[in-house]
Amino acid sequence: MTTEVLKITGDPAENERVIEKAARIIRGGGLVAIPTETVYGLAGSALLETSAEKIYAAKGRPADNPLIVHVARPEEAEDFARPGPLYFRLAKRFMPGPLTVILEKTDRIPSTVTAGLGTVAVRCPSNPVARRLIEVSGHPIAAPSANRSGSPSPTAAEHVYADMNGRIEMIVDGGPCEIGLESTVVRPDGDDACTVLRPGAVTPEMLAEVCREVRIAPAVVEPSLAADGTPESPGMKYRHYAPKAEVVLINASHAKFLEYVREHASGKYGVMIPNEDAGYFGGGMMLLTGNRGDAKEASRRLFSLLRRADEAGLETIYAELPEPEGETLALYNRIIRAAGSKILTLGSGRT
Ligand code: TXA
Ligand code: MG
Repeated sequence: MTTEVLKITGDPAENERVIEKAARIIRGGGLVAIPTETVYGLAGSALLETSAEKIYAAKGRPADNPLIVHVARPEEAEDFARPGPLYFRLAKRFMPGPLTVILEKTDRIPSTVTAGLGTVAVRCPSNPVARRLIEVSGHPIAAPSANRSGSPSPTAAEHVYADMNGRIEMIVDGGPCEIGLESTVVRPDGDDACTVLRPGAVTPEMLAEVCREVRIAPAVVEPSLAADGTPESPGMKYRHYAPKAEVVLINASHAKFLEYVREHASGKYGVMIPNEDAGYFGGGMMLLTGNRGDAKEASRRLFSLLRRADEAGLETIYAELPEPEGETLALYNRIIRAAGSKILTLGSGRT
């Protein structure tokens, strides 16, 4: 199969033609990679069992890890799920946007999409191309991240091309993703409590604005837990985002981190550091995370830095351990997975 890449440009009429072409592919049971505000998604109709099967095959993903169903408007969840009052409160505050909510499903969604679960994950993306595509296709859209299973989620069309060329019909190139980490996944527990199954740009503090009790699933901060126990979200049990290089994650003051890397790094190594420290090292590859303290920029860049490290054939990547809370909770969650949960603590850690 040849994979066509079509760009979103400044021309609205041309963009509408691209979107219509993509929508036809989706209605016909084919697959299109689409931009969203979080990461690129591998989109197929959520109403067709064969589309879900093709998605698992193209990703090389185990069929027991369910897909997120994307809608153009939050109330469309009622077409295939049983949303409760908390869903509508969350939707009012955070949708369209980077939030996915787990709901009880109805028979309209084939069980292949949800990997046999009685629940379905629903998300209404804010990216205008994604929303328009869902609207024009007239189908809810199943879309996992558009990477091959095990590699970092794609945050640019080039990343999708590298993983999916020859496996899908089309890639819609909408430029780099704004957020760069996947959506927050929450499960409502009754009408006024919820559990964060995957952290994202919608933080626990933000969720607490509409929900009295916000729990964080233990596997979010402790991924080794997910390997043995029964995971609350199937995605938790897989080792995600694993670059080929070994990630040495250091829990230390910033000064100690820099000093440690300067003394110990050898071979083909890279260092994830803020722009301000670019001049500190004589050798190695500088993987710049943006201005120091800019969690949004560091989140936006993480996956493309990991891909760049692999392309350069790095053996080791040194990175600082982020705080497991607030705006950096999602970054913490992804980076401990990339490091396979190994953390090196120097002195008394960060403080
Ligand atoms: O930002 C995103 O959410 C992106 C874009 C494309 O929308 N999508 C994405 O999909 O990250 P994926 O398939 O890579 O991750 C979906 C996560 C997995 O961890 C999966 O286990 C979990 O959501 N999930 C899906 N359905 C679920 C369900 N019914 N119950 C619990 N967890 C579920
Ligand atoms: Mg994924």
